[in-house]
Amino acid sequence: MDKVKVGVIGVGRGSMMLQYCNAAQNAKLVAICDKWEEGLMGAKNSLNDPDVSYYTDFDEFLKHGDMDVVVLANYASEHAPFAIKAMNAGYNVISEVLPCQNMQQAVELVETVERTGKIYCYAENYCYMPGPYEMKRRYRAGQIGDFEYAEGEYVHNCEPGWTSLTYGDPNHWRNTMYANFYCTHSLGPIVHITGLRPTKVVGLEVPITDKNLRMGHLYGQCGIEMVTFENGGIAKSIHGGLHMNNISYILYGSKGRYETARECAGQGDVRTLYAQWYDHEGDYSNFHGETVEPKVKEGEDIPAFGHSGSDYYCLWNAMEKIKGNPDADTIDVYEALNMFLPGLFAYRSVLAGGITMEIPNLRNKEERDQWRNDTACTDPKVAGDMLLPCYSKGNPDIPAEVYEHHQKIWRESHTQR
Ligand SMILES: NC(=O)c1ccc[n+]([C@@H]2O[C@H](COP(=O)([O-])OP(=O)(O)OC[C@H]3O[C@@H](n4cnc5c(N)ncnc54)[C@H](O)[C@@H]3O)[C@@H](O)[C@H]2O)c1
Repeated sequence: MDKVKVGVIGVGRGSMMLQYCNAAQNAKLVAICDKWEEGLMGAKNSLNDPDVSYYTDFDEFLKHGDMDVVVLANYASEHAPFAIKAMNAGYNVISEVLPCQNMQQAVELVETVERTGKIYCYAENYCYMPGPYEMKRRYRAGQIGDFEYAEGEYVHNCEPGWTSLTYGDPNHWRNTMYANFYCTHSLGPIVHITGLRPTKVVGLEVPITDKNLRMGHLYGQCGIEMVTFENGGIAKSIHGGLHMNNISYILYGSKGRYETARECAGQGDVRTLYAQWYDHEGDYSNFHGETVEPKVKEGEDIPAFGHSGSDYYCLWNAMEKIKGNPDADTIDVYEALNMFLPGLFAYRSVLAGGITMEIPNLRNKEERDQWRNDTACTDPKVAGDMLLPCYSKGNPDIPAEVYEHHQKIWRESHTQR
């Protein structure tokens, strides 16, 4: 296979896929799907490529046929059923974050990958940011010894862009998730660096603020997960919308530490890595300290792609995997769930008053039956009688005018949604 033939659903975040196919040598865009016709037509006009087909209906899109992979950039809460449908129709899948909403979907997703044999790549691009990616390379080479403690932080105040992100839809997933849902940007890199499985979690929820109510967002402004890994190491993961933005990672091992710069340090943030280590555990005679601006791929400058170039490398590896390159570094369905389940169970911990929750291991077939009918989540479309509140203290009453205000601003520049 020379170039992977790509179909993408969702023209918002999916537009990055169009940029990727334009820039990279290993993929070619063949089809785009979005039920939002105005957005789809915008993509069609800007691409102006007669070889690309356009669909407003996902089932019709799946009939396209001559396509190697379906890239899911649809709603974050709806990836699992779309991934399952795409794999059952014979396609490989690259899924945007998050992989699923509840345990029933998690079990079905794993079993569909196993039954169909299709490639599933979880596009947790933050793993491919220069700092955390270099941490992985060095950690796996044994430079800082065994994992002991880590911190992952993804703090993003989305209030200034909330109208364009939610278009005033009170049922948009960005308004109706729960504080611990979007956990894989902060926790995912720690899972990918160490290769270890999270086994237990304690969850915390930072309370709702006036800012959240102005936005029309029903859940606590931040989620925190205190995660125990299979070797006993601990990680703190924090994500959500505190006032100032930051993306950073710290990892302690038994003979050293890695740390990316914080955004406020003005050091190129997640592109700058501070590495400190000793040659041997318990021997303090040989100290090493480096400050590096790593390249993700040797010999290549970081391409001008979003999220510190990570959007590019995440997709490059996924395309190489589909082409059969044995060196492709991707995130499979089990690892995707190792990144996501700590958030789901952290929220169960929050709802239960902060107790420790065990995280299931869905590689074990015997554990699956306990979960295959567990639909608990905050989405009424799939939760049935297991519907959870978006906020542990009960969903706030948000006046209709809040959403009407966002809708009005949206309509000033768009005709449809
Ligand atoms: N990895 C990252 O850094 C990053 C950044 C932004 C967004 N995302 C992810 O990208 C995804 C999309 O986010 P977004 O910001 O573009 O906003 P969004 O979720 O509002 O957009 C989803 C798009 O999919 C389309 N869609 C939804 N259901 C559909 C269906 N049944 N048929 C056809 N089209 C359908 C919608 O019309 C919309 O254009 C989410 O999963 C989000 O988590 C990831």
